[in-house]
Amino acid sequence: MKYRKSIAIARFKSRLIHLPVRGVINETLRLFPPVPLNVRESRSTSFSLPRSDGTYKVPSEVPLYMPAKTTIMYFPLLTQRNQRLWGEDAEEFDPERWIDPQRLTKFTANPTMYTPFSAGPRIVSTSTSSAHSF
Ligand code: HEM
Repeated sequence: MKYRKSIAIARFKSRLIHLPVRGVINETLRLFPPVPLNVRESRSTSFSLPRSDGTYKVPSEVPLYMPAKTTIMYFPLLTQRNQRLWGEDAEEFDPERWIDPQRLTKFTANPTMYTPFSAGPRIVSTSTSSAHSF
């Protein structure tokens, strides 16, 4: 039993050596974002939200109304584990998804599916967090 365990550990370590460091960091932050939910407030005037990109089914083609000064919560923890965005293996820890050009296409087309450092003008800058630079 002890012998089998040490073989398993040795196999895991040898696999770890070949993993891309950037992929391991990105994948850790994808599955376990230190800021799993975040809050924003809408502008002081109401407006219509831009049309959906089609990732989610929307109940109607009518633009969504965003009332003024309304609290909005978003959940990187859920977005970053969403199977529609990341595929059926979304819950799996797989650093290699970050070096596979085909799997990366979806992310490069829709960068807000990965927001451990937030997004937009308030994003944690690449100078403060090297993990964010691709
Ligand atoms: C794994 C590492 C880190 C993660 C996941 C992370 C995540 C975040 C997130 C999600 C926010 C946005 C908070 C919000 O807008 O509500 C934030 C803000 C911020 N972070 Fe980080 N952060 C990391 C490392 C760092 C480091 C190393 C620094 C500085 C040395 C830093 C400095 C800041 C600053 C200054 C802000 C505020 C930016 C602004 O609102 O203008 N962060 N961080």
